[in-house]
Amino acid sequence: MASSTASTRPTSPVRIDVTSERGPYAVMVGTGLASSPEKTLKSLGLPVHALVVSAPEIWRRHGAAWRGVAGKRGPVLITDGEKAKTLNTVSRLYDAFNANALDRASMVVALGGGTIGDMTGFAAATYLRGLHVIQVPTTLLAQVDSAIGGKTGVNLPTGKNLVGSFHSPSAVICDPDVLGSLPRRDFRSGLYEVVKYGVIAAPSILETVTSKSHAIFACEAKVLTPLIAECCRIKAAVVTADERESGRRRSLNFGHTIGHALEAITKYRRFRHGEAIGYGMLAAGRISQWRSLMSEAELNTLRHAIRSLGPMPAVTDLSIKDALAAITLDKKVISGKLHFVAAKGLGATVSISDVTTDELKHALRDIGLRG
Ligand code: GLY
Repeated sequence: MASSTASTRPTSPVRIDVTSERGPYAVMVGTGLASSPEKTLKSLGLPVHALVVSAPEIWRRHGAAWRGVAGKRGPVLITDGEKAKTLNTVSRLYDAFNANALDRASMVVALGGGTIGDMTGFAAATYLRGLHVIQVPTTLLAQVDSAIGGKTGVNLPTGKNLVGSFHSPSAVICDPDVLGSLPRRDFRSGLYEVVKYGVIAAPSILETVTSKSHAIFACEAKVLTPLIAECCRIKAAVVTADERESGRRRSLNFGHTIGHALEAITKYRRFRHGEAIGYGMLAAGRISQWRSLMSEAELNTLRHAIRSLGPMPAVTDLSIKDALAAITLDKKVISGKLHFVAAKGLGATVSISDVTTDELKHALRDIGLRG
């Protein structure tokens, strides 16, 4: 568990506004928001009844508070995790939407981690050409990243997130209290994405992660809530400026080119997503430093923040050749060109399209791969 002492005293919620093609929506961050959902939904002017989609384990932990919202029909429970994030599961959701006679005015709640949010969001995006969805992320990674910005989708046997759509939610409700029951490794996985925000926009986050890791892992609301809110503010600003990822949104991919390759060559079995991104950020930082975009001291600050989170799975048995092959298959290759996100000091990024195979090779060796 991340902590057994998660706060139960509500802190004043923080409201962050996002604009999107489908309209504006609020990201709410605060303890107690998910334990009194009717009050939260009412305060946002949203209906208090919805079709709630969740996973059995999440519902067991957090469902009691959502029974009133789900009403007599109860929740729709699906398997979560990357293996289950398929068109088959989405098809089951369509059946449930149909059985519950949902129409275009209906509201669906996604209560769960990133895969529940992605699948529910995609089913809502495509059923009757679009239902409303409220994202209630229950992992740190989903709270600071995937629940915001409208990316939804599923995996195909040939790759991750290959089918999807942009479908902004009607609201995102982030309650740090729900994170207290997360396994420590899953909680830590989200913290690598938190570190990413430090690199791309707000270096003070790196200092907070490094110096307050004990309070963060203990889910102390006075440290964790503002940290989550800061990340959500950055994500909200980025997706408001570039919803469809034609420019600024690419900065969110810092560490992801190499991170995705590590996940792919280990068949998504070895790393939590954040751990792979941790390695990806170390490699991207190194390339940034070789290009004099980042100083050695700045790179060391990044390394220190990543290492302060704890051990990561080994990479020394992984081959550079395999990783390079996976990089060329990545979605971030557009018209044959790789859009590699480099750090520009700490707090800014630059997209470079001329990163060489040699640079990638050396960076992979630098983080420990062989070959
Ligand atoms: N997770 C990256 C993005 O939302 O663009």
